[in-house]
Amino acid sequence: MKDKECDIGLFGLGVMGGNFALNMADHGFSVGVYNRTKEKTHEFMENDVGDRKIRAAYTVADFISLLKRPRAILISVPAGDPVDQVIDEITLGLQSGDLVVDTGNSHFRDTDRRYESLSKNGLLFLGMGISGGEDGARHGPSLMPGGSKEGYERIRPIVEAAAAQIDGAPCVAYLGPGSAGHYVKMVHNGIEYGIMQMIAETYDLMKRGMGFDVKKLHEVYHAWAQGELNSYLMEITSDIFLRKDEKTGKPLVDLILDQAKQKGTGKWTSVEALELQTPLPTIDMAVSSRDMSGYKEERKIAAGILRGPDKGGRQLEKAFIDKLEGALYAGMVSCYAQGMALLQHAGKAYDYGLNQETVATIWRGGCIIRAKLLEDIRKAYSLTPDLPNLLLDPALGKSVTARQGDLRDVVCTAAGLGIPAPGLMASLSYFDAYRSERLPANLLMAQRDYFGAHKYERIDSEGTFHTRWMDTKEEK
Ligand code: 6PG
Repeated sequence: MKDKECDIGLFGLGVMGGNFALNMADHGFSVGVYNRTKEKTHEFMENDVGDRKIRAAYTVADFISLLKRPRAILISVPAGDPVDQVIDEITLGLQSGDLVVDTGNSHFRDTDRRYESLSKNGLLFLGMGISGGEDGARHGPSLMPGGSKEGYERIRPIVEAAAAQIDGAPCVAYLGPGSAGHYVKMVHNGIEYGIMQMIAETYDLMKRGMGFDVKKLHEVYHAWAQGELNSYLMEITSDIFLRKDEKTGKPLVDLILDQAKQKGTGKWTSVEALELQTPLPTIDMAVSSRDMSGYKEERKIAAGILRGPDKGGRQLEKAFIDKLEGALYAGMVSCYAQGMALLQHAGKAYDYGLNQETVATIWRGGCIIRAKLLEDIRKAYSLTPDLPNLLLDPALGKSVTARQGDLRDVVCTAAGLGIPAPGLMASLSYFDAYRSERLPANLLMAQRDYFGAHKYERIDSEGTFHTRWMDTKEEK
């Protein structure tokens, strides 16, 4: 290959970047690569590239000159300042009409800022979320691009070929202007947090409540992964219980410290949902639960002081497993419903023009939250594109309603045993609140009016009202 002959450039040869470069090359595209640490580039070229059409550069200027014009450059570096640094470095060598694509988990506000500043310089910009981890990047991720439509068209053949394919359709589509792609990726991760949390709660109930060992846990999750809970997260969960620690021979999962880390995308989803006044209780609880897990030392002390209910473990019947399966299914639908509702509100608030069916379509494969259920979700939006909430879809609503008994039993059992199940509880509360024609907000409004003269509306007349509540006399 000569200069100016690579179809696309990739800046950043971490696991994700390197694997995605190989993936694109496997589909016949020529890729120019660059990494700040020369040794890394060298290693990649020596060990991984083989006879693929991948060319390395060792300076930014050489990297840029490898690419066909107008250029397209994917950035694969950690979110935050590194992305700005790379943009600053490469833009000096770019020309009007060139395209920059940020593939990290960037905050959508940063994406908006970068879009604006690059547009001012005549450059095209895309914020493209990638999901699927290293394996996805290598063999077919789900890609969530948003920003310049012209830019998307330029890389479309490449990303369509590199993405996961489901029923002949690539798991990538242009999602909308500005930060639409990174917004969708953020919500994807919020849903990921919610589902992971609920799976962890079912594990806790089976382990502490039923005394299940890793063998039984593997069997349960393996069976669930074949049924209506079929999903990537269920498959990896079932695998995890098979893994033995090489050093001790014990189940590895039992040796892992129970303190969850997080990079922030789940919290962003919750914060953003609060901004748009969209309830997301399952995702909120998932974030809070990770936070709670961080208080390990305090929990150790509290465990010695605060007693729970006096019930030993292992008293749950085997039939409880079926209830857990139904509960998890209902919880998952509730969690997707919350995330999709946020996307719908955001689509309007930020003029993304998001198409919910498209989002469900590209989440069916490649990404961490891929699940059989997503095909039902896609169908729901295909039937009613402006469906306000997934729970209103006749088929999904019916499925959740049919499993509400399981979810109620599981939540009651967890409460009775003193085993926390905040994700499942929040999913049930969301379902119950959403289906309540009348909520107790009338009392809240009376309280606000009582202490702050904030006024209230009435159900029987127009306008706003204030009552001098303090004058109330007790009726005898
Ligand atoms: C994906 C994952 C990926 C990453 C998360 C982990 O879609 O491939 O979501 O983006 O693994 O950022 O997030 P936490 O560190 O916050 O758990």
